[in-house]
Amino acid sequence: MPLSRKTWLNDSQRRRQIDPAGLDPVAGDEAFFGFERVQAREKAARVVKHFDSVAAVYDFMNTLLSFGIHHAWKRASVRMLGLQGGERVLDVCGGTGDLAILAARRLGPRGQVVIYDINRAMIEAGIHKARSLARSAPIRHVQGDAEVISFPDCSFDAAMVGFGIRNVVRMRQGFAEMHRVLKPGGRLMCLEFSRPVWPVFRALYDLYSFYIMPFLGELIAGSRKAYTHLPESIRMFPLPHELADMLRQVGFSRVDYRSFTNGIAVAHLALK
Ligand SMILES: C[S@@+](CC[C@H](N)C(=O)[O-])C[C@H]1O[C@@H](n2cnc3c(N)ncnc32)[C@H](O)[C@@H]1O
Repeated sequence: MPLSRKTWLNDSQRRRQIDPAGLDPVAGDEAFFGFERVQAREKAARVVKHFDSVAAVYDFMNTLLSFGIHHAWKRASVRMLGLQGGERVLDVCGGTGDLAILAARRLGPRGQVVIYDINRAMIEAGIHKARSLARSAPIRHVQGDAEVISFPDCSFDAAMVGFGIRNVVRMRQGFAEMHRVLKPGGRLMCLEFSRPVWPVFRALYDLYSFYIMPFLGELIAGSRKAYTHLPESIRMFPLPHELADMLRQVGFSRVDYRSFTNGIAVAHLALK
């Protein structure tokens, strides 16, 4: 099926990307890497390659491309978790650790944060930021797949996933794993990109993300491909109400969400 280029999928197109339960952009053994339909195994390999290629410039590019606004989105999203001193928090797809550091500062020295990510280069690129944070919870790094989280059931008070679940091949499986490792009453926060609400703003955002972002990606990160994949994967991602339904199907309750910057980013909060 041909997919829309340089625009958002309409509702019926987006629904055709998702599985029979209407929840997951994976049909059988297939998955989408941006607008491209590939085998699930191939998507997993391409995601690792993608982050290998951007790890060294990841933080810089985030700040440049978002004009620094991503820091404000992350701060507001971590605040939504209402973290208490001494709690244990899992940062799934934690990458270079921005969310983990914000959480660690709120938990105090008796708390603990685990950055869980499949990509070693991304983990290594952020290790220096997680060292020597005064009066903060210690941050551990664990390399692993969000689809099979290597922690026992009910072991965390809160879990968060920032700009990561889009890359997980079986998104619903990823959320099911986060649900499993949370204690009863544990909170999940998922921060992801979404579709801007105002049509004129959306059109400007489309121009920016399909033309300027790949250009800057090539110029600074040396990869036009990586920064073409980014806007495509955002346009394939479920809308906020669809993601909320997915979280409920996985077993979360009291699912709510908050939009940032006209809906460019959305943070979902849910309870186990
Ligand atoms: C866009 S980065 C987000 C990093 C960080 N959370 C942030 O907000 O800046 C996405 C991260 O998800 C990781 N990732 C992708 N697929 C994964 C998987 N199946 N399991 C664990 N991590 C994964 C990537 O390696 C990458 O570090």
